[in-house]
Amino acid sequence: MSRLVHLKTVDSTNTYLKMHRADLPHATVVYADTQTAGRGRQDRTWVSQTGGLYFSVLLKPPYNPFLPNLTQLMALSICYALEKYGLTPAVKWPNDVQVDGKKISGILSEAVFDKTVFQAVVLGVGINVSQTDLEHVGQPATSLNALGINVTREEVLQDVLQFFQRGYPALCEKGFETICAAYTQRFAALGKKITVKDGDKTIFGLAEGISPRGTLLLRTDQGLKEIYIGDVLV
Ligand code: BTN
Repeated sequence: MSRLVHLKTVDSTNTYLKMHRADLPHATVVYADTQTAGRGRQDRTWVSQTGGLYFSVLLKPPYNPFLPNLTQLMALSICYALEKYGLTPAVKWPNDVQVDGKKISGILSEAVFDKTVFQAVVLGVGINVSQTDLEHVGQPATSLNALGINVTREEVLQDVLQFFQRGYPALCEKGFETICAAYTQRFAALGKKITVKDGDKTIFGLAEGISPRGTLLLRTDQGLKEIYIGDVLV
């Protein structure tokens, strides 16, 4: 990645990059020791005390990409890094990373527009490294230290970015198909009956797979449904 910015504290690394996007080059990465207003998906708060890794990547692709695919590449890169440490992570579609069914990482991806003109994408990542208090996560959660892995936040950052950087050009050029097999292999719900929250609807079905576009293929009583964005509940 071209530029690495380290901040002791910031409201949110995503907000920081969105605000400074015009002055910063493509592939700038900012990471912070703590965030005072860390944000999660669906307007949730991302509690960001010392010990966690909080970073965001600024991307300026030449066209407005299908955002979930960039998020999926990031989720896969996090999996690769965790596998390097001997863990067996899985992706909770579309973008949480879990180990033993417990959340270890989340991703918040945001597209930035100037009026209606696409400007950039900010991919924000939180990884639990050495925090001890994970009660607030609202679902079973774990950290690298709790799993017996002693790595620094900087090592984890470098490992994740290395994988992301490798996959990014091919993803931009050829699309999700370049990572579809690797992603599907790590798809936690594959072959399971799940409930998916799709906007204000919930849909129940069998997770048959991930399509070459990165969408979730769910076999329901009404037939095969392709889900573009949502949250797997169970
Ligand atoms: C989620 O699981 O809901 C996504 C969490 C994303 C948190 C990261 S921490 C770094 C970046 N800055 C933020 O404010 N959020 C993301």
